[in-house]
Amino acid sequence: MDWGLKNRLSKIIQPKTGKTVMLAVDHGYFLGPTKGLEDAQKTIKPLLPYADSLMLTRGILRNCVDAASRVPVVLRVSGGNSVLDEDLSNEALTVSIEDAMRLNAAAVTMSIYVGSPHEHQTLANLGRLVDEAQRYGMPVLAVTAVGKNMARDSRYLSLCCRIAAELGAHFVKTYFCENFRALVKSTPIPVVVAGGKKTSEKEALTLAYNSIKEGAVGVDMGRNIFQSDSPVGMIKAVRAIVHDGTQLEKAFSIYEKEKKAR
Ligand code: R5P
Repeated sequence: MDWGLKNRLSKIIQPKTGKTVMLAVDHGYFLGPTKGLEDAQKTIKPLLPYADSLMLTRGILRNCVDAASRVPVVLRVSGGNSVLDEDLSNEALTVSIEDAMRLNAAAVTMSIYVGSPHEHQTLANLGRLVDEAQRYGMPVLAVTAVGKNMARDSRYLSLCCRIAAELGAHFVKTYFCENFRALVKSTPIPVVVAGGKKTSEKEALTLAYNSIKEGAVGVDMGRNIFQSDSPVGMIKAVRAIVHDGTQLEKAFSIYEKEKKAR
């Protein structure tokens, strides 16, 4: 791994703890104005001080994030569908590596759809993106998107993560599952856990806690932070779990305290 690539990756995965809290706000790339992100600028701003990186599209970056912000950007470079499409797997690369560089991205990210109708296309896209990104020392985060008929079990997600690593991704984002430790063991790159749809704050913090306990390098959480009744409370609590090894109950009290203070 060359110096530039390592340097960029170290902006995301914090060298001090070896962990990361990513804030995912890229949902609009196929969902449009997702609940909580209608006014993306207003939602994102108070969370920036607590995020190790921001995962988003170039449109939201350019229009809704202050260019003086210090937060590293993980730029989504795949898409091409809307939620109205039957088959979400038909994704293309939508941003050139030059534009990712121009936007000072710390990493680029795209989804792969293993077992879906456009599996081959998205895996070939990943190989191509790794080739292009590596030329510039840019890390690639592969996201294991799950098709409608796929079970989010250890066998399937281990397959996805391993393929992402084999094709050259530098880190991978997937869902938490049973036997997660085995998934981490068979994936020779850092594994970040996706948040998933909004649940209770306790459940979301439990997910973060278990993910770290079972070997994830961090979480990439969106809706369970920005749709919470206390987004700042949630991201502070997640940080405490990920970076400080805080126990679940104590982390929950961090969220509650922040919620009461507002
Ligand atoms: C999905 O592919 C998107 O990349 C989202 O960023 C991802 O699902 C994480 O957001 P959430 O925690 O809301 O699931």
